[in-house]
Amino acid sequence: MTTVLAGVLAGVLAVAGTAAPASATLPDPRPGGDPIPARTWAPSQDPAAPTVLVNKARPLSPTSWAPDDLVRPDVRALGEHDRLRPDAARALERLAADARDATGHELVLASGYRSVEYQARLYARYVDGHGRRDADTFSARPGHSEHQTGLAADVAEAGTPYTDLGSTETGRWVASQAWRYGFVVRYPEGQEAVTGYSPEPWHLRYVGTELATGMHLAGTATLEEAFGVGPAPDYPAR
Ligand code: DAL
Ligand code: ZN
Repeated sequence: MTTVLAGVLAGVLAVAGTAAPASATLPDPRPGGDPIPARTWAPSQDPAAPTVLVNKARPLSPTSWAPDDLVRPDVRALGEHDRLRPDAARALERLAADARDATGHELVLASGYRSVEYQARLYARYVDGHGRRDADTFSARPGHSEHQTGLAADVAEAGTPYTDLGSTETGRWVASQAWRYGFVVRYPEGQEAVTGYSPEPWHLRYVGTELATGMHLAGTATLEEAFGVGPAPDYPAR
């Protein structure tokens, strides 16, 4: 990491780590307005690591992996998939509290941890309803979903379907502020050929504040780019 970027990151993280309220204004982290050069981070193969990369090219290893430390964040949940890994849960609590202060709307957890068995049933149901080709654009195959890590959270503005998040005030706030809490919007618009999925403004992935801040400062849109691993538009041919 360059000295400049290291210094900038340390300063921003000092603020981000304290979960600054949304109203707090961060100083422009780029000296002289210069763009921060993008850097490449090392993806982890450990499914328990916040920097694990899971996509169509990289299943969890082992594919049946399940976390053993799931907790229920103190955030209203819409269904039974209401648990996350502890760091992701605490970060979501802070995000939801600050989102409420900033927008006046409650942010709710629509779907957190999903077991490999549940993901298999979900994916099969989508294949039945839409066909495999369409299903693959919005649902991960079992063993390939970030929800199985306990680090992914689908969120909604209370009273609206989670799929509408992008057009809500909460969604706009989340898109600009999630990085401060260690989350990235994992499937952004315009990155379908890289992530392999249609845009999902509601799908937040906890990666920790260091990586989320680094990506934010460099304008890095996807984890594939951050990790320098190349796009994962589709599953490997069998
Ligand atoms: N909707 C995302 C891609 C998943 O199924 O994990
Ligand atoms: Zn999701």
